[in-house]
Amino acid sequence: MNSLTKDSTYVLNTYKRLPIVVKKAKGSYIFDQQGKKYLDMYAGIAVNSVGHSNIKVRRAIEAQLKKHMHLSNYFVSETQNELAKKLIDYSFASKVFFTNSGTEAIEASLKLARKYGKTISDDKFEVIALHESFHGRTMGGLSLTGQPKYQEAFAPLLPGVNHIEKNDIEALKNAISSKTCAIFLEMVQGESGIHVLNDAFLNEIVRLKETYQFLIIADEVQTGLMRTGKMFAYQHTTIVPDVLALAKSLGGGLPLGAMLVSEALENVLKPGDHGSTFGGNPVSCAAGLATFEILSSAGFQNALLSKSNMLFKGLNEIKQSSPSIKDIRGKGMMIGIEIDGDAELLKNRALKAGLLLNVTNKNVIRLLPPLTISTHEIELFLRIFKQILDMK
Ligand SMILES: Cc1ncc(COP(=O)(O)O)c(C=O)c1O
Repeated sequence: MNSLTKDSTYVLNTYKRLPIVVKKAKGSYIFDQQGKKYLDMYAGIAVNSVGHSNIKVRRAIEAQLKKHMHLSNYFVSETQNELAKKLIDYSFASKVFFTNSGTEAIEASLKLARKYGKTISDDKFEVIALHESFHGRTMGGLSLTGQPKYQEAFAPLLPGVNHIEKNDIEALKNAISSKTCAIFLEMVQGESGIHVLNDAFLNEIVRLKETYQFLIIADEVQTGLMRTGKMFAYQHTTIVPDVLALAKSLGGGLPLGAMLVSEALENVLKPGDHGSTFGGNPVSCAAGLATFEILSSAGFQNALLSKSNMLFKGLNEIKQSSPSIKDIRGKGMMIGIEIDGDAELLKNRALKAGLLLNVTNKNVIRLLPPLTISTHEIELFLRIFKQILDMK
């Protein structure tokens, strides 16, 4: 039995697998068992920000493996401490809770918001989230996710979640009341096709917070850690969150998530209120620390901005001569290309041509390349992308 047949025989069929079997992955490339090389333009869905098998991350993992792997959260962890300090130094936060995934970071944030609400009043438990948002697949995360296609089969979901249209100030004003304990926001909605929240909407949230004392919870699972060109996407805006959820690239390829909280909220959750057996695993945190060191260097950040400009410029040039591109949007290295037609067809053509593209929400190609992508690799991507668009 080959690996693809074994997979369909033994593994629950919840994922749409690609028809290739990977032998190895390095930098911006994935190699299949036949030795064919693919330029990876979605980097493990925004996980492999510093490229596949980054040597600094591997060395940090190996060094930690020699010390210990799992101990349990009864023990303090040096790698956890160091990574928490870095996240605090670069953000609004004053404390960090580690998880294994994005949905768990959201779940922790939701629990914190509920408990915060209770400290004010028993009926302050309602939450606002946005249509077309994506916050994960646990029942809490799914209840926040504003996409019926993911929710309907699992109803009834958590009570008290109100979904409103993004960037709709009237809907926002109507939905918020003294019962609202939190609003969850992706500054750039990723899974639904790269939609950027606008400043007027975000400013209004900041203004309403004065009156209604709800928490602003930034879901930066996808946008966080330089993906949008700044360490955190909220740093492009006037928003200073109270809570921020991270995951994806945080562990440099190993499972790791985090909830960052502001000083005012440090003591909402007490010992025993929340926990995780694996959350903040020392090896994942060692990988995270090495990743963070790369992402936070000034040279890396400057290069990232010019590479993002190059990618946007190249795509906009292609758009001039390609009527099938309806829109190009996003920030930094989080880019959506909306296609008039079948984006899956383009994805399949790309695969044949040695290019890995991710399609989300049917007609949007979502680019999330490794942030270490070179200018040469960007040129290669643009060349192949134009070719597959032009194919008859
Ligand atoms: C914005 C956002 N939040 C939450 C999640 C859930 O993260 P995970 O799949 O690690 O549970 C995702 C995953 O794509 C995401 O993009």
